[in-house]
Amino acid sequence: MSTVALTPREIPVDLFYNLSPDELDRSIADSRAALGRRLVILGHNYQQDGVYKFADFKGDSLMLSRRAAEQTDAEFIIFCGVHFMAEVADLLCRPHQTVILPDMAAGCSMADMADIESVERAWEELAGILDPDEQVTPVTYINSAADLKAFCGRHGGIVCTSSNARKILDWTFARRPKVLFFPDQHLGRNTSKRMGIPADRMILWDPAQENGGNSAEAVRNAAMILWKGFCSVHQMFAPAHVDHFRATVPGVQVIVHPECREEVVDKADLVGSTEYIIRTVTAAPPGTAWAVGTELNLVNRLKTDNPDKQVHFLCPTVCVCSTMYRIDQQHLAWALENLRDGVVVNRIRVPDEDREMAKLALDRMLEVS
Ligand code: 13P
Ligand code: SF4
Repeated sequence: MSTVALTPREIPVDLFYNLSPDELDRSIADSRAALGRRLVILGHNYQQDGVYKFADFKGDSLMLSRRAAEQTDAEFIIFCGVHFMAEVADLLCRPHQTVILPDMAAGCSMADMADIESVERAWEELAGILDPDEQVTPVTYINSAADLKAFCGRHGGIVCTSSNARKILDWTFARRPKVLFFPDQHLGRNTSKRMGIPADRMILWDPAQENGGNSAEAVRNAAMILWKGFCSVHQMFAPAHVDHFRATVPGVQVIVHPECREEVVDKADLVGSTEYIIRTVTAAPPGTAWAVGTELNLVNRLKTDNPDKQVHFLCPTVCVCSTMYRIDQQHLAWALENLRDGVVVNRIRVPDEDREMAKLALDRMLEVS
């Protein structure tokens, strides 16, 4: 009698929606224990609590990029974050490692605002006015697809995050006089403003218009060419929200993410990455009051973790990153149970043609920061 080797079958995700919160907790904990050192879970600071508590390493984009690069032993890296973050982990890890994103729908709407075709077209349009490879450094915020990172690698450019943008721009301006910064206009503008670049040397590049909607003279005069992209979550914070807290909470300190609009950042006391925000509020003396302008899951957790302080959410409406929220306990439990059974679901793999150049742009960033 011949024997047939059975290929393990994928367990469907729907089954996990029938489990109670306790059962989900148990499933995740059991799978983690069974996989042991073969597995590392990375969790971005915006993850919902039920998922965040299972992360071996937590942090902002820069910290998680570093952690991903350091995990030389684990066979599997589960990234609880959004798609571009898992791509970065895949670029920085070793060939024997596999990166998994529990839900493929966890993207970043800002990252989607710049695509390779529009950026290449912008580069060609710039070439009609000046020599971009001599005069312009392309800088992509880490919130971008791997092919844009590869574009930066090919053209002497670099990646930045919200915590190292200043250092990265110092690096670029030491080499070439102009920067094409995508996709987040606000991080680019807020950072270069603090470096002393005047507003009349920053232009907005609208990819839907010829030459980004700029005259050739404006392009020649510009130091910062800012892509017309933004984060729909941070876009919700307004200067009036800062005024409200200043008027109603004595001694309040306002701390915001640099993806917020210029008018909000200008009114804030402090600005920085998610990790900077957590560190600053956590280290503050008891009794201090904070109004925090970043994603709601993070702010709610800060509130719970700092009962000796007043922590307020800066916006009166709900600002949740709905794509980060796609990573729920059900998807984490599903990815883990499949892995335990030898089935890899939702593997993130950057295409071969982009790997080398995208990694070059990331390595430049890690070296500079
Ligand atoms: P951080 O790098 O500050 O965590 O920011 C990532 C992000 O997507 C913020 O919206
Ligand atoms: Fe993207 Fe904004 Fe969500 Fe950050 S908060 S992942 S920038 S959509």
